[in-house]
Amino acid sequence: MEKNEYILELKDVHKIYGRGTPNEVHALRGINLNIRKGEMVAMMGPSGCGKTTMLHIIGGLSKPTSGTILVNGINLDDFSGTKLADFRNRELGFIFQLFNLFPFLTALQNVLVPLLIQQLDEGEARTRANIILRELGLGGRMDHRPGELSGGQEQRVAIARALVTQPSILLGDEPTGDLDTLTSSDIMDLFRRLNQENKQTMLLVTHNKFVGNECDRIIRMNDGIVVDDDL
Ligand SMILES: Nc1ncnc2c1ncn2[C@@H]1O[C@H](COP(=O)(O)OP(=O)(O)OP(=O)(O)O)[C@@H](O)[C@H]1O
Ligand SMILES: [Mg+2]
Repeated sequence: MEKNEYILELKDVHKIYGRGTPNEVHALRGINLNIRKGEMVAMMGPSGCGKTTMLHIIGGLSKPTSGTILVNGINLDDFSGTKLADFRNRELGFIFQLFNLFPFLTALQNVLVPLLIQQLDEGEARTRANIILRELGLGGRMDHRPGELSGGQEQRVAIARALVTQPSILLGDEPTGDLDTLTSSDIMDLFRRLNQENKQTMLLVTHNKFVGNECDRIIRMNDGIVVDDDL
């Protein structure tokens, strides 16, 4: 039996940017959410409604102003700095909205980074990085730097980097935003296969109805709250 029913629990999570200044923004206004292990969830909602803010908080990249985030029953607040970084590297895969690739590293080197941080043997790391890059159709682009790739190729390198550690939770911020329909559909097939083979939990922010419909569940946000959850 699973130790916890939910892999992810958010309890009354608020985020206020620039609190007490004239620029104060109440980006999250009380988010409550439970996600089970192995669920493939789409998060949708208009620009500025708080989707990226929520992913960053779940990923431990930013702290909530108030509220609780439990991952596998563990409160993110209980992690110290190094423990949090270690947890992020081992358990989470993050596909950022702006990719965040290292510009001076090749596609292959970018994908190797998280494995080398885990101190995986370099030969093994190269094998794994090669496999995932080829699965994403980048077999011929491994030695190219981000500036020498198309937007969609950069996005696929970012996806490869997030998947290569086989994270238990994949957090994707518009993971197919720069891809055409056919490529998006291939990526969704890959996500689904990994989801089924490894029971990986996936939380995908998207504006794309197709991506939403490929998921098990759609959570809709507006103005910092969840307005609809087809659980
Ligand atoms: N670092 C920040 N400082 C101040 N305000 C911020 C910051 N980051 C985001 N915001 C504000 O918080 C709100 C939520 O932003 P967020 O990036 O979470 O939206 P989003 O739903 O991801 O939008 P999009 O679909 O355009 O990516 C917005 O009003 C935004 O202007
Ligand atoms: Mg965003």
